[in-house]
Amino acid sequence: MVWTSRPVRRLAGSIRAPGDKSCSHRALIFGGLASGVSRFTGLLEGDDVIRTGLAMAAMGSEVACTGPGAWEVRGVGTKGLASPKDGLDFGNSGTGSRLMMGVMAGFDLTAELSGDASLSSRPMNRVLNPLRQMGMKDTAGPDGRLPFSLTGSSALKGIRYAPPQASAQVKSAVLLAGLNAVGTTTVVEAKATRDHTERMLQGFGAKLGFKVAPGGAAEISIEGKQPLFAVDAAIPGDPSSAAFLIAAGILSAQGDVMVEGVMSNPTRSGFYDAANLMGAHLGAEERGEAAGERLIDLHAGYAGLKGIAVPERLVASMIDEFPILAVLAAFATGETRVTGADELRVKESDRIKAIVAMLRVNGVDVEETVDGFTVQGCGGPVPGGGLVETRHDHRIAMSALVMGTAAKKPVSVDDVSMIDTSYPDFLGHMAMLGAEIGQG
Ligand code: S3P
Repeated sequence: MVWTSRPVRRLAGSIRAPGDKSCSHRALIFGGLASGVSRFTGLLEGDDVIRTGLAMAAMGSEVACTGPGAWEVRGVGTKGLASPKDGLDFGNSGTGSRLMMGVMAGFDLTAELSGDASLSSRPMNRVLNPLRQMGMKDTAGPDGRLPFSLTGSSALKGIRYAPPQASAQVKSAVLLAGLNAVGTTTVVEAKATRDHTERMLQGFGAKLGFKVAPGGAAEISIEGKQPLFAVDAAIPGDPSSAAFLIAAGILSAQGDVMVEGVMSNPTRSGFYDAANLMGAHLGAEERGEAAGERLIDLHAGYAGLKGIAVPERLVASMIDEFPILAVLAAFATGETRVTGADELRVKESDRIKAIVAMLRVNGVDVEETVDGFTVQGCGGPVPGGGLVETRHDHRIAMSALVMGTAAKKPVSVDDVSMIDTSYPDFLGHMAMLGAEIGQG
């Protein structure tokens, strides 16, 4: 169903950031493995995260919602996970499915895994290959696409693995398999990716080793057969979801948007660094801590932006934010060039193609490149007036709707239902800021 975002004069207000998606998945997984009962507040109740909780429950953990955003998880502890009776459907979630493959690999169980059309087109060999080296068996064909079944083993063997791509999901899957393997598992990471698995595993009592390898790569090691212990934790606010509200504030002629309680972690902050390089002048105030992460309140008002060459060192720390960065680039003066971002081709959609199509149908001059895209900014409001094909991609849908708030003409999207995967309150939060987004 088509939804349309109409240009509005002013977006203003203060919104509490939704719980971080990466941390919410990990909270349910690690809580489900630990001994004892973990209690979480501020958990993201998006479809992706709920499916991870259902998968853990199907294999023996007890997962219960006790209030809005409040969840209790009784972990399996030393008993370990068992084969689920039914297949596990991970919906749209790359993180849920890939992290769970790593977890399942270390237990004596068999499970059938599936996902929606988008997830079934995404590459899983990046995770299956190292897990097979450790001793996991699976029925995936050579293209490594879902659906398939896998059989884990408590006799899994630790490996040393250097992922060819910068991917926190691959790193995490290998480390989680390593948690229940025999011996030591080491991931050698050439470019730093989000470090929530490392931080949160330590919060649940696991011991990890960190070293810098010759040449500067990071080595993360985990000794197998380590127990985890339950925790009580507040989930920090999601910087990736906050980016949509902040961008809306920057583009609004009289914008005055505050997002409260956003996690400030250098492995996630690339979008904010890039926006500041473009001239956004974002304000940040300390807001304490949650689950060992620093929290900030972020403020954005209108700013005339200039195009930039996005530094490649920022790519991994803003990998989910390129659709909304592209929207900022479309309003900026001059050219914005993104390079070194070929991982965008294997996200919820081929995001390079989806971004280029989103901007082009709204009158913006943009070129696709092998590993990125180049936008010629309009130096002010983009023409708009286009219907954006969202391709099952929540971040394309949200980016296009933000674009519509400040374009010359309304911007439409062909679907909003998949926004629930990561940010179920998005339309409500945008309405609270004064956006006019509605059906038709
Ligand atoms: C995530 C890792 C990233 C990111 C995804 C969440 C995670 O994926 O795009 O939204 O929680 O580990 P990749 O590992 O494929 O880069």
